[in-house]
Amino acid sequence: MAYQDLYAAWKADPERFWTEAAQAIDWTRPPSAAHFDQGPAGEWFADGLVNTCWNAIDRHVEAGHGDRIAIIHDSPMTNSVSRLTYAQLQDRVARLAGVLVARGVGKGDRVILYMPMIPEAVQAMLACARIGAIHSVVFGGFAAHELAVRIDDARPKAIIAASCGLEPGRTVAYKPLMDRAIDEARHKPDFCIVFQRPECTAAMTPGRDLDWAEATAAATPAPCVPVEGNHPAYILYTSGTTGQPKGVVRHTAGHLVALAWSVRHIYDIGAGDVFWVASDVGWVVGHSYIVYGPLVAGATTVVFEGKPVGTPDAGTFWRVIADHGVKSFFTAPTAIRAVKRDDPSGAMVGQYDLSSLKAVFLAGERADPDTITWTEDRLKVPVIDHWWQTETGWAIAANPLGVGLLPIKKGSPSLPMPGYDVQVLDEAGHPVPPGTLGAIAIKLPLPPGTLPTLWNAEARFRKSYLDHFPGYYETGDAGYIDDDGYVYIMARTDDVINVAGHRLSTGSMEEVLASHPAVAECAVIGVADALKGQAPLGLLCLKKGVETDHAQVAAEVVRMVRDRIGPVAAFKTACVVDRLPKTRSGKILRATMAKIADGEEVKTPATIDDPAILDEIRAALAGVGYPVRN
Ligand code: COA
Ligand code: AMP
Repeated sequence: MAYQDLYAAWKADPERFWTEAAQAIDWTRPPSAAHFDQGPAGEWFADGLVNTCWNAIDRHVEAGHGDRIAIIHDSPMTNSVSRLTYAQLQDRVARLAGVLVARGVGKGDRVILYMPMIPEAVQAMLACARIGAIHSVVFGGFAAHELAVRIDDARPKAIIAASCGLEPGRTVAYKPLMDRAIDEARHKPDFCIVFQRPECTAAMTPGRDLDWAEATAAATPAPCVPVEGNHPAYILYTSGTTGQPKGVVRHTAGHLVALAWSVRHIYDIGAGDVFWVASDVGWVVGHSYIVYGPLVAGATTVVFEGKPVGTPDAGTFWRVIADHGVKSFFTAPTAIRAVKRDDPSGAMVGQYDLSSLKAVFLAGERADPDTITWTEDRLKVPVIDHWWQTETGWAIAANPLGVGLLPIKKGSPSLPMPGYDVQVLDEAGHPVPPGTLGAIAIKLPLPPGTLPTLWNAEARFRKSYLDHFPGYYETGDAGYIDDDGYVYIMARTDDVINVAGHRLSTGSMEEVLASHPAVAECAVIGVADALKGQAPLGLLCLKKGVETDHAQVAAEVVRMVRDRIGPVAAFKTACVVDRLPKTRSGKILRATMAKIADGEEVKTPATIDDPAILDEIRAALAGVGYPVRN
């Protein structure tokens, strides 16, 4: 069926469309309906009984495919490649689940995972899913404080961590970060499981910490526990406008149905195919398409521990594709830009046999046409931009390879997927004509797999997503739809910035800057960065009468952000200014300053309190090397 027919079939009868899609899943008890009009924004397959781990592992083993490779771990950081069959994965996951059960973890209990890109991270997620525990994975690039904030919000019974992660040139000892986070958090987990890596073994806390290898060797494997369709499968925290991250909840059944549908129809991945998503299990992309999507499909997933460049070189992506026969490859545009910077002509592509590769998928940030063209020209396969969010869990707009590729328009992630009625609205909430810029919203209900609420924060869920445009989900992205229905994502409407495909809150960085004793007032803005898309920049006003060295304060706040939020914030620059430009009502003109830093021509906003401040900002930014125009 062509895309247009598929989308029309969904629109004509969503209930039927998703009931049919649900047949790709094994149910302990099939749901009585697809959509349930309950909860703040509706729920899917709510009264079905189902288990995620069964669908991702056991059913494939049961069907005689236990010898098929489930996970290929390729780690240029340790110079190793290892493989796990579905049967081996089942055994490891069931044993780890057994350890959790023996220690009292059961359905609905939360477990926080703080793990690098190793197969044990995938096993830990699946072990939780096996027993109906709710996992919350915290990305390794976040510091102890961010982990502590998530511990207090999720209140986990257990934390599973690895002793360390491996970054180029340094070993990141996770265990001490976990210990610091537990010390800082008000909530304390009952116990921790630590996977010791040979690169850096961790000292254990007696009575609290279990050694993964010892505990799983002695464990009784636990069976799959069926849960209701609307039982939370996981919580994944994402940046909002404040330092308190939003706990995006994913319900079990909708998640399974959406992933089974999308992995086949969007990525063209089925049983036996090799899918490589070069992201991290700490992000939604990793949850959906490193872990659950390919395994539900019975495919092979590549878990890659390395970087696009420097591990050891800009040919790594192509080496992994060739070595493992990758069919669909998914990464962020920033990663391709990094490769292109080191190997501009793409000479290294020619060193590998990429005949298995059918397409490259890009997401996480806007895919700039140059990056798409460079990749297409060298790899000679379609390069497909698609747009989604932690909240949605799968693509809102894409070009569905598995259905039949539509014409690619560079700069657009193409067309809405079935389930998503995407509209562009003006400030008053009225749809605008094609080609007109506005807020992008999705008509409710959202499809299966998308967030039904925020963890312990239903009011925040309503306020963040539902209240502004009644009847719609507000994406927080701005853009337009062209005459052919292609969606274009141009900017965020909030204070979220996108650094190297990672979503970060300028508000949370401002909270850190403001806590410096010499800082009276501050602003963090996202400025254009050739590699990372955007990079954060801090502007500081210091307290009057405090004798301080400006460069020293700037260096101190840089260190504070790294220490409190983590290296992932990539906060490297701050500069001191006398005053910040504001509107007459006192709102800081962040967007205006970002434009100045980007070297754009800036018209003085009509609402500005004192236009002279803009020149001061120009001078300060030019002083730290920004391409300011006067
Ligand atoms: N654990 C600990 N630290 C981590 C980490 C992890 N899991 N991941 C990243 N970091 C650290 C890095 O070491 C770096 O630290 P540094 O400031 O000491 O150099 C910092 O966080 C920023 O990391 P990163 O954003 O990876 O930048 P980079 O400069 O090391 O590399 C790219 C640049 C473009 C190669 C890299 O950002 C990249 O591969 N991006 C792809 C992003 C992606 O896949 N996003 C998922 C969305 S689909
Ligand atoms: P995250 O929740 O971290 O996945 O970030 C989601 C945000 O990243 C979106 O709301 C967009 O702002 C941005 N984003 C993701 N994919 C794309 C894309 N293909 N094009 C433009 N922006 C994107």
